[in-house]
Amino acid sequence: MITLITNIKELLQVRETSISKVSGAEMAILPTIKNAFLILKDNLIEDFGSMDNLPAIKAEKTIDATGRIVLPSWCDSHTHIVYAGNREQEFVDRINGFTYEEIANRGGGILNSAKKLNETSEEEIYEQSKVRLEEVMHLGTGAVEIKSGYGLTVDGELKMLRVIKKLAENYPIAIKATFLGAHAFPIHFKENKQGYIDEIITKMLPEIAQNKLADYIDVFCETGYFSVEETEKIMEAGIQFGLKPKIHVNQFNSIGGIQSGIKFKALSVDHLEIMNPEDIEALKDTETMPVALPSCSYFLSIPYTPAREIIKAGLPLALATDFNPGSTPSGNMNFVVATACIKMKMTPEEAINAATINGAYAMGLSETHGSITKGKKANLILTKPISSYYQIPYAFGSNLIESVFLEGQVLN
Ligand code: NIG
Ligand code: FE
Repeated sequence: MITLITNIKELLQVRETSISKVSGAEMAILPTIKNAFLILKDNLIEDFGSMDNLPAIKAEKTIDATGRIVLPSWCDSHTHIVYAGNREQEFVDRINGFTYEEIANRGGGILNSAKKLNETSEEEIYEQSKVRLEEVMHLGTGAVEIKSGYGLTVDGELKMLRVIKKLAENYPIAIKATFLGAHAFPIHFKENKQGYIDEIITKMLPEIAQNKLADYIDVFCETGYFSVEETEKIMEAGIQFGLKPKIHVNQFNSIGGIQSGIKFKALSVDHLEIMNPEDIEALKDTETMPVALPSCSYFLSIPYTPAREIIKAGLPLALATDFNPGSTPSGNMNFVVATACIKMKMTPEEAINAATINGAYAMGLSETHGSITKGKKANLILTKPISSYYQIPYAFGSNLIESVFLEGQVLN
């Protein structure tokens, strides 16, 4: 089936040849074609160019995109979309003066979500999670990474990963699964941390690997959660089971997690709200993608990732939502792009690169997602009539999306 989109006001993120990521000064450049056409064949991008060179083809479906912009769908490389219930009470507690840390220390936070998850059936978790997945698809996300990490028991973690697998089977969106058993220490292992790490390494990992339930391994490397040493042990074990690391580091403290991630060739290091110059230096000349999660900074009122310093150092940067019940109950990549511009002083070009091609890299999908390139997935956002792509971050609260294409099909 051939779909032809004509008269596109501006086609964004056009890359003739497939690139894996953009770094430093290159991030300021967003290649576009004005007055463009785009041809989709089945689920793939077949061709694109200027309307002046529109080939004579017979299309089953033609869409006139006059006044509208087309861009590749968002690539959200860091989410915790699968969870049970919510934590709105903790949200109000924080308004009333408690900190995220204080709430976690009294058994709230991740442990609160773990309790709810273990009390909820797999079917019910699936039902709750699919609502969130459908919501983000309509907000223009065409590829997403989803983590476990609210089970913290063998059964709970496997249950979460099976839900992620089922979502991947049932929806036309690329989904990568990450095992985050090392998200927090469960209460009954509080005095026996090694016991829980053994549980992760000897019980969870073998089952996950055998059933091919995860692509990546994650650890929350942070004061009060997993130390650098513990993080390294878990990454090492994950690698032995074929899982590449993608880790949570530097959210509240800089304790050496970035250097550990690099040592174990992590695909990405995520959060990075607290960065010292050595952390930035360590990332140079590595294959590890720094990932910022500005909606988390917004929701928790914590510092934003220093994007300008990271980009000035010549590094790449990706943007993701961190959609989860505690620190970021939002999966809106449009808001992420806007917040990156407004609060992190990224330019619209940098933010769009970070939320498309660099996001795809951070989940191992840049060969198929993240740009308008022949042969890549026909995953697109078609905007409403807008003056320019600056509107995407500028009109930060508005939904500018007219339709979303996933695998060449318009999402209803
Ligand atoms: O990425 N930082 C660790 N994990 C999640 C939040 C966990 C939670 O509060 O449920 C995050 O922010
Ligand atoms: Fe996270």
